[in-house]
Amino acid sequence: QIPVITIDGPTASGKGTVAHRVADKLGFHYLDSGALYRLTALSALRRGTDLADEHALAKLAEHLHCSFQGGDIILSHENVSDAIRAEEVGNTASKIATFPAVRHALVGLQLGFRKAPGLVADGRDMGSVIFPHAPLKVFLTASVAARAGRRYKQLIDKGFSANMEDLLMDLQARDDRDTNRAIAPLVPAEGAHVLDTSEMNADEAVRQVLKWYAS
Ligand code: CDP
Repeated sequence: QIPVITIDGPTASGKGTVAHRVADKLGFHYLDSGALYRLTALSALRRGTDLADEHALAKLAEHLHCSFQGGDIILSHENVSDAIRAEEVGNTASKIATFPAVRHALVGLQLGFRKAPGLVADGRDMGSVIFPHAPLKVFLTASVAARAGRRYKQLIDKGFSANMEDLLMDLQARDDRDTNRAIAPLVPAEGAHVLDTSEMNADEAVRQVLKWYAS
């Protein structure tokens, strides 16, 4: 059995950083499942796909020409690592992620990331839906204020402009959508360890996850 560590949690909880570092430490592969929703959103925005057309969006998701090369995310030969981090793309991703057909279309792609020697998978439903038998499941969370602060810094570092009030509103809207959607709502998976990182830096969170994995 190829081991999988799932790290789920709300927007800007630091999952990405923590999951990435845990994968590095263990020499495991890394799945950023949110990036797949963002890639679908970016494709839809660029093509002008009707964002209410579940079938058309699912088709886009099913036929994504994407690859992950080192830290770079490539969509049809273009490096879109930064483009998919824009707030508009994140908001669109969160909306289209409520469509069952879109989620379904991305399942096979996600399962394909499970390769020897192991996988760290980051998202919302990694432990509950995609890898329900993972030997270690973590639910990473943090206060709204801590998460807004992190997102602000992340956007500024990437050269985007950001406004704290808008970010707080977006964050709450995204939490509402993720938590209240009918399919794969954001809740800790059965058996998940919950880790509140409001007062914790990424290194401390990584240490805790590795400790759980070793025990
Ligand atoms: O930055 P943020 O954490 O909001 O986003 P992300 O992890 O890059 O994912 C983008 C959006 O895709 C999220 O807002 C979720 O609504 C959705 N998503 C999901 O529904 N299921 C996943 N496994 C991963 C992301």
